[in-house]
Amino acid sequence: MSKQVVWVTGAGSGIGRELALAFSSNGHRVLATGRNLEKLKSLEAQGGGFITIAECDMASYKSINSFLNSKPECKEISLLVNNAGITSFTLAENDSPDLIEKVITTNLTGAIHAIQGVLPGMINRKSGIILNILSVITRKVFTKSSIYSAAKSGLEAYSKVHVKKSAGTTSG
Ligand SMILES: NC(=O)c1ccc[n+]([C@@H]2O[C@H](COP(=O)([O-])OP(=O)(O)OC[C@H]3O[C@@H](n4cnc5c(N)ncnc54)[C@H](OP(=O)(O)O)[C@@H]3O)[C@@H](O)[C@H]2O)c1
Repeated sequence: MSKQVVWVTGAGSGIGRELALAFSSNGHRVLATGRNLEKLKSLEAQGGGFITIAECDMASYKSINSFLNSKPECKEISLLVNNAGITSFTLAENDSPDLIEKVITTNLTGAIHAIQGVLPGMINRKSGIILNILSVITRKVFTKSSIYSAAKSGLEAYSKVHVKKSAGTTSG
């Protein structure tokens, strides 16, 4: 793969952190964002100079927009990893409005804002990769994860439209 400018969301821990390290160790320039600056600083220290960190709360459009306008490299993002996510394991009837809001804004709305933010550059360059970390939940039914399932399946559905559009079939 040619050298990419990679944006990994939720990179402070877990899968996002490992992906940021894997991309950086292969010489890609990584923009690693998250909510916790301390976790990000320790990631940056391991990145061999290839990782740039920044705060970005995926549950906040303002925060996403502010990150995207904060550095020249943000205009060069060629690979987006929509990784930031929170899970929920409660029955639908017990989901609080706050939980529903948090899961949807982080896992779905935030990921959509991220895609929208990188799309103009990708369209101009006629190339780009968007990698959504979804879940088996888009294929299986887990009765205690309805809101998580709605968010992940929603992101899958949203992204299918872009796949079809970039293939040149824009009907519907
Ligand atoms: N692990 C699995 O088995 C599994 C299976 C299927 C799908 N996934 C998906 O894989 C992705 C990563 O999961 P993981 O297992 O690595 O979980 P994790 O260790 O909990 O990591 C999630 C990351 O997302 C960040 N995050 C959460 N809310 C955020 C927000 N509003 N803004 C920015 N960052 C935020 C967290 O940062 P903080 O430190 O700030 O909380 C954390 O760094 C998620 O989308 C998850 O749904 C995981």
